[in-house]
Amino acid sequence: MQSNNDFVAWFRSIVPYVNEFRGKTFVVVFDGEIILDKCSAEFFRDLNLLVNLGVKLVVVHGIYPQIRTKIKEANLYLKYIKGQCVTDAAILKLIKETVGQIRIEIEALLSMGLSKPPMANSTICIANGNYITARPIGIVNGVDLMFTGEVRKIDMSAIRDRLDQGEMVLLSPLGYSRIGEVFSLTPENVAIEVATSLKADKLIFLMDTPNIGRKSHGELNKSLNELTLSEARILLSNLENKDFRLSKETKKYLSCAIQACVGGVDRIHLISRLIDGAMLQELFTHKGVGCMISRGSLWTFRSAEIDDVGGILQLIEPLGNEGVLAGRDRKLIEIEIDQFLVLEHDNMIIGCAALNHFLGTNIGELTCLAIHSDYRNKGCGDSLFRHIKMRAKRLGIKKLIVLTTKASHWFTERGFNEISVEDLPKIKQGKYNYKRRSKIFIRNI
Ligand SMILES: CC(C)(COP(=O)(O)OP(=O)(O)OC[C@H]1O[C@@H](n2cnc3c(N)ncnc32)[C@H](O)[C@@H]1OP(=O)(O)O)[C@@H](O)C(=O)NCCC(=O)NCCS
Repeated sequence: MQSNNDFVAWFRSIVPYVNEFRGKTFVVVFDGEIILDKCSAEFFRDLNLLVNLGVKLVVVHGIYPQIRTKIKEANLYLKYIKGQCVTDAAILKLIKETVGQIRIEIEALLSMGLSKPPMANSTICIANGNYITARPIGIVNGVDLMFTGEVRKIDMSAIRDRLDQGEMVLLSPLGYSRIGEVFSLTPENVAIEVATSLKADKLIFLMDTPNIGRKSHGELNKSLNELTLSEARILLSNLENKDFRLSKETKKYLSCAIQACVGGVDRIHLISRLIDGAMLQELFTHKGVGCMISRGSLWTFRSAEIDDVGGILQLIEPLGNEGVLAGRDRKLIEIEIDQFLVLEHDNMIIGCAALNHFLGTNIGELTCLAIHSDYRNKGCGDSLFRHIKMRAKRLGIKKLIVLTTKASHWFTERGFNEISVEDLPKIKQGKYNYKRRSKIFIRNI
């Protein structure tokens, strides 16, 4: 961070996310590689940080690299039938040992995180229990998969109790049957079942792939930063004609994301674990660093409400300070809130515009049109302008004026013509700020 101003801007930028995430339920799933990673301590500290910010966190871990090594050392081998492995008694024994070791390592890493800034002196308990009932997958292609199982039921009320106590729930890829047998599960199966049963707000997969949808020459394909459920389905079913490749792992997680979305999870994030702080960057920045799959469209246009004043202020205050927009304080926005329309992306206000009707005339003024800098040049300004025109027409407005210091071409390209102060309605003429010397435009609607 370069200056105090950067710090203040950064701090303000994350506050809406902190407010948004408090009390929400996230499920984070990762395989065993992350524990072997040299940045693992930072990752586990970030998990603690989320809990400290009020997120109800369920963590699901895998064991793949560790169990692969153990099986090799024991001169055993894993047999796969249609992509699913056969777990015999000898392999199950190794799985149990491995799960035990990994849990201890994770608990140690989570505890270590609590002794250092920013988590020093905080206490977060890690909850563990027989929350998962499993059943055997059974026979596939004539082969018994033995102790390879799938989730049958999750004890949601027990997990909810722990989360409500502020504890982090750590789940392993094991489940127990009603007759006391232990079954090996995949972490994805556990995570999807838990997330859908809890109706989690987010399900986050940490992948080993550098990122979803890199083009063949390695450049990130920005169109894959966000997908709706139907876009994700199309992407998976139509892979041949694309100018980018999806790794095998990405395809696997994309289909997990679809499954979770269908099961009722609102947002699924696929993030590369190879990026330092990837989870925080994905969750606390507009741009993110991964791919987010959502059940429906993330975009909403609506009339502003009094609770939106903070979000609007955050958007327009920097533009007011730069002289791009006329300054407006909280009080004024509160008074004029009914004039505002907002554009939301993923529950965050990223655009606004206001319409002021000069009563007794057929003239309206478009004011305070602003789009967050991360979302410019995507047609958001145009869409807000369209919504303002619709509102204006409903009010019987025939002419729209606008005052601007920095966007005159934007308006002339949309049919506005320049006029002078004398052409403004009398009430507006008296308020014209000769210091700002904004240009004035008008167009029929
Ligand atoms: C002006 C503003 C609302 C445009 O929103 P946007 O969502 O980025 O614009 P759109 O995506 O609808 O349109 C993009 C087009 O407008 C152009 N454009 C964007 N800002 C412009 C500006 N200030 N002046 C001229 N043209 C501009 C882009 O170059 C692009 O044109 P192109 O595709 O031909 O290159 C946005 O830049 C903004 O918030 N600016 C700061 C506040 C402001 O000046 N408000 C207007 C006064 S009320």
